[in-house]
Amino acid sequence: MAPQPPPLAPTTVVGAENYPADLVAAVVRATEAAASACLPLVGSGDKNAADELAVAAMRDALGLAPFDGTVVIGEGEKDEAPMLANGERLGTGIGPECDVAVDPLDGTRLAAENLPGAVAVIALAPRGSMFDPRDVFYMQKLIAGSAGIGVLDLRATPVQNATRLADALGKPLNELVVGVLDKPRHASLAAELRDAGMRVHLVGEGDVSIAIAAATPGSGIDAVMGTGGTPEGIIAACAVRSLGGFMQGCMAPQSESERATAVSAGHDLNRVFALGELVSSDRVLFVSTPVT
Ligand code: FBP
Repeated sequence: MAPQPPPLAPTTVVGAENYPADLVAAVVRATEAAASACLPLVGSGDKNAADELAVAAMRDALGLAPFDGTVVIGEGEKDEAPMLANGERLGTGIGPECDVAVDPLDGTRLAAENLPGAVAVIALAPRGSMFDPRDVFYMQKLIAGSAGIGVLDLRATPVQNATRLADALGKPLNELVVGVLDKPRHASLAAELRDAGMRVHLVGEGDVSIAIAAATPGSGIDAVMGTGGTPEGIIAACAVRSLGGFMQGCMAPQSESERATAVSAGHDLNRVFALGELVSSDRVLFVSTPVT
């Protein structure tokens, strides 16, 4: 008999009170279907195959959900990975009209290498309430729990922000933990924070997981700083909004061609987006199932 993959870790649901119970249950089934579908490929080294299974399972499951959904964040464009297409309609067409943000497998490499932090996530919000970051793949993010509200600002330096957050939390600087993606572009950010006495929690991939942690008091991660995917930024905004945390984002193209596309699409690259601009409604449902 083929070895059975281990059972799924529990799914996190935030904002269930905002939507009918049958829709919430269908969304949970969809993240669990995506996570279960790619479990057999955890550790296989084949991140695209794992992602493809997760995408297909999530699409099938969301097709049965009692709502009228439109994909605003399909994820995967940056890496030309399998994805649900932006603008794709989902659901039975009967029920709440929603914007949908999905990442059937955030942390594809983590899953392929059996490292912790890969998740299957879906967020719903009322139609028209999610910012559509089309054409820009990267976003600078500043995320924390509610203690960051009125305290943090992307226009300040990382050390200033981390110091303000430590003050607001009543923590000594050396107990403040900042989650950062472990990428060459963040070498100086991590060094600056460490030189100022803060602790840096580096993850190779998967900034949705650390965003959820940063917005959850007591998780062991107090903030997220640095630049990651824009789709993951909107998904994180939905999670942070439903958890009552703080977030700001700013488009941060990483290549000349991405910059040129962003500017010709009308993006103001200096604009700092408040959480309420990234997702403009409180009626958010956020569901996340761990894969690894
Ligand atoms: P995928 O699982 O879609 O590959 O995304 C992983 C991820 O780490 C995201 O969580 C993050 O926002 C983005 O990639 C960062 O992009 P890059 O790896 O190009 O710096």
